[in-house]
Amino acid sequence: MSNPSLLILAGDGIGPEVMTEVRKVIDWYGANRDLAFDVSEDLVGGAAYDAHGVPLTDATMAKAQEVDAVLLGAVGGPKYDDLDFSVKPERGLLRLRKEMDLFANLRPAQCFDALADFSSLKADIVGGLDIMIVRELTSGVYFGEPRGIHKEGNERVGINTQRYTESEIARVARSAFELARKRDNKVCSMEKANVMESGVLWRDVVNEIHQAEYSDVELSHMYADNGAMQLVRAPKQFDVIVTDNLFGDILSDCAAMLTGSLGMLPSASLGLPMSNGRPKAMYEPVHGSAPDITGQGKANPIACILSFAMALRYSFDQGDEATRLEDAIEGVLADGLRTPDLMGPEDGSPISTVEMGDAIVAKLTASL
Ligand code: IPM
Ligand code: MG
Repeated sequence: MSNPSLLILAGDGIGPEVMTEVRKVIDWYGANRDLAFDVSEDLVGGAAYDAHGVPLTDATMAKAQEVDAVLLGAVGGPKYDDLDFSVKPERGLLRLRKEMDLFANLRPAQCFDALADFSSLKADIVGGLDIMIVRELTSGVYFGEPRGIHKEGNERVGINTQRYTESEIARVARSAFELARKRDNKVCSMEKANVMESGVLWRDVVNEIHQAEYSDVELSHMYADNGAMQLVRAPKQFDVIVTDNLFGDILSDCAAMLTGSLGMLPSASLGLPMSNGRPKAMYEPVHGSAPDITGQGKANPIACILSFAMALRYSFDQGDEATRLEDAIEGVLADGLRTPDLMGPEDGSPISTVEMGDAIVAKLTASL
């Protein structure tokens, strides 16, 4: 049997530097755990725009459709701020999500014990936190039509459309219920049914799927603004949160910060099963391209490495190896090693991106 295939799209900003550390981890699994991958690399975002004039070429899109999983770094940067909307770096990422039909975006927010004191919330509020945000990723206001900026009389009007079909809501709701059954069996669905018809439909469909297929799972509903408040007030009340594309974008950044740093949060974007039984999948850190620290060795590679751990778990049925990697990261943090994003001004001296990657690989080796 041939090795599973991975397409690495490192992208822009800190994407390439954090991905270099992920490569070390991938190579470690090939050398030590009989888990070799066929890895190819290509361009996305501003890097693709610079080379080809588009943020994702058709050839790269076709490759992404063929591999077992895509690993993505980050896209975007100030250099591209004035580009036409249609060729902005972010469009490359959105095209991948849409054309691979990656409708379920899993964003786990776990607080490692060693970082509980570093969260902007009190340690007892975040200690032991383990929640999973399931964000709908291929519809809603990100893709709804009509959209655009046009002239009405003598002023401009900007339009985006929040649009959800029943089947789009149903399939992401099922993903959330399935995940909950493997966790604490609780789902909280978030929308704004008080002001949006799409939110009313969202709530209805989630209730229907729950009643028909998942009545064993505990279901609650919350308006998304209250959800944001509850996430910072008492985040441990949640197990799985399911929400739409835009609310999920915002709520997941909020949840990320509970864990200490945006540099800690991985994500998996999953679609339907392919002919080999594996889901269509792309794995990426939740953080962006961080142009302010690019190229300075300050980036935290952990979110991207944890994203590879999610690939081991969700694409390659290697849950034990995913846990080994997560434990290695926990061990490195427990040893007190920190990139600058995980330190206060008085916390001693930080280690670099490369040193963090090396420390994680050394912990993996120590685990054998
Ligand atoms: C995310 C990011 C993206 C999004 C951007 C880069 C398009 O913020 O993955 O959360 O808005 O979805
Ligand atoms: Mg975001």
